[in-house]
Amino acid sequence: MKVGIVGAGMVGSAAGYALALRGGASEVVLVDRNLALATAQAEDIAHAVPFAHPCRISAGDYDALEGTDLVILAAGVAQKPGEDRLSLLSRNADVFAQVIDGVQRAAPEAMLLVASNPVDVMTDVALHASGLPPERVIGSGTILDTARFRSLLGGHLGVAPQSVHAYVLGEHGDSEVLAWAAARAGSEPVEHFAVQVGAAITGEVRARIDEGVRRAAYRIIEGKGATWYGIGAGLARIVQAVRDDQRAVLSVSMATPEVEGVRDVALSLPRVVGRAGVLATLMPELASDEATALRRSAEMLKETAEALG
Ligand code: 2OP
Repeated sequence: MKVGIVGAGMVGSAAGYALALRGGASEVVLVDRNLALATAQAEDIAHAVPFAHPCRISAGDYDALEGTDLVILAAGVAQKPGEDRLSLLSRNADVFAQVIDGVQRAAPEAMLLVASNPVDVMTDVALHASGLPPERVIGSGTILDTARFRSLLGGHLGVAPQSVHAYVLGEHGDSEVLAWAAARAGSEPVEHFAVQVGAAITGEVRARIDEGVRRAAYRIIEGKGATWYGIGAGLARIVQAVRDDQRAVLSVSMATPEVEGVRDVALSLPRVVGRAGVLATLMPELASDEATALRRSAEMLKETAEALG
């Protein structure tokens, strides 16, 4: 599998690094308008390869993307401390028109995996600019928020996050929805599991975990300027699901015909991801307040995308 990454900043290079460590691709090409940066990141990542899996890492211009099966789009500006993701929209949408043109001239059939924020609207932009079918234009969406949810819930319950099956839905951003009603630990609803291990999920615990997930990026950006390790690993996870046709259930963003009465909106739901992209979309059972919150998140994203035109 040859993977291209456009944008060799912290997110793009962390994705390249995670792919090298996980053995997620046989070849990775970094593209950035700052070729010196892309070259330096590629050289640095290449020095990790002898400790990891065989993988060729290089840097180049758009032409170097020829033959790529999948291109991660991580170009554009990132949030400053206190800034929300949606405020990046007009700046990043402008960048994307050129980026997608460059990618498609070299690799017209490549699947697109969007990471730039606000990722849901940017997924919509990429879909329309590329003309690819929606199942081949995926946004990283809430894969990271879901990881944060599983991690905090696992910590509270004293189990590995890998044994927690819980998803964050809707926007990758302030309006996201933690799907508590559908959350499981092992095969148990989390509330049952929590009582059995003596770690009840009180209102206070729930509020702490909700805040921990929803505000994670703000805290990290305040402390170190940006986030990159979590999203880098999440992007590599999606690439592996595609490469190996894993049919893994991952919460990723995609243009969705209808959700909670809102039509044609890109947002995250749990989806089955394999070689052809998104193979199926799942709608978890939601409590009524969760369904209302998901509708609001969808409406807000739809209005934002429409305002962008
Ligand atoms: C994150 O959630 C900033 O969207 C990025 O870490």
